Amino acid sequence: MAKPISDAGGDLGVIERLCGGIDTRPGHCELHGDFVDVLYRRRSADGNSESHGWGGCPECAKSRLEERREDDEQNRLAEVARDRINHYQGHAGIWPKFEHARFENYRPVNEKAARHLATIQEYGRIISGRDHGGRCLILTGNVGAGKTHLCCALLRMVINETAQPCFYINFDELITSFRETFDRDSGVKERDLLQRFSKYRLLVIDEVGMQSFSDFELTVAYKVINARYLQNLPTVLGTNMPANNLKKGIGERAVDRMRENGGRALEFDWMSYRERRCAA
Ligand SMILES: Nc1ncnc2c1ncn2[C@@H]1O[C@H](COP(=O)(O)OP(=O)(O)O)[C@@H](O)[C@H]1O
Ligand SMILES: [Mg+2]
Ligand SMILES: [Zn+2]
Repeated sequence: MAKPISDAGGDLGVIERLCGGIDTRPGHCELHGDFVDVLYRRRSADGNSESHGWGGCPECAKSRLEERREDDEQNRLAEVARDRINHYQGHAGIWPKFEHARFENYRPVNEKAARHLATIQEYGRIISGRDHGGRCLILTGNVGAGKTHLCCALLRMVINETAQPCFYINFDELITSFRETFDRDSGVKERDLLQRFSKYRLLVIDEVGMQSFSDFELTVAYKVINARYLQNLPTVLGTNMPANNLKKGIGERAVDRMRENGGRALEFDWMSYRERRCAA
């Protein structure tokens, strides 16, 4: 039996620094076999009291430490993802009026609305995953039926699921931002804008059809939708125009792009949610 170092007298601090502990004894671990067990001095957190404890198998201690490091790393990554999600949620371009919009507070007013809600949630799951192929979606129909509400809810969902940036923009704002490229002083270049709009994991272009239907608008619509199409990124359109008339709003080529890969149009053909609630 090894003579306890603590009996040796002298400065314990020095002995500990030299030997790492104040006593030793033979130890055996089921997993790692024989080892030298070391008696350590432990100070309480407030530093006022002291206790002794045997260290146990050093190999087991090492793996416990590794596990803790992995846990810490995972917690750190989760925290980074949470920070990113919060940032992207705050920079998603959603109007304060639709800040509240979630799938959970969308009240389907009929069976079709319930089906559309389920379809859009399923679509959100698909485009948050991998092999979605950039599939697009068009929400068309009456004012006040909840298209913008669902677009915003979808955007929030995809940001949460992917921790990637997504963006909501009205068609007229999109056009205005491209028109600014004509003003040299603005320093805004078309290429930069296309790059910006083709980096979002999901882009919602809402309120299509409230515009002047100029060639410029059709060109911008095609360029943005096509830039995203080339990167396999999904675009969602919200519009009051009937689906079969949409080419008047964004042009035939853009509609073709939206329809590729099974891109669907969902029709919201019931009366405004508000009017309905007032009528009830
Ligand atoms: N089914 C619904 N459940 C809950 N709120 C709804 C519903 N439909 C519409 N709304 C609310 O009514 C308002 C108008 O809806 P909105 O999404 O702007 O319709 P749209 O874009 O189809 O014109 C919004 O405040 C929206 O949150
Ligand atoms: Mg709307
Ligand atoms: Zn061990």
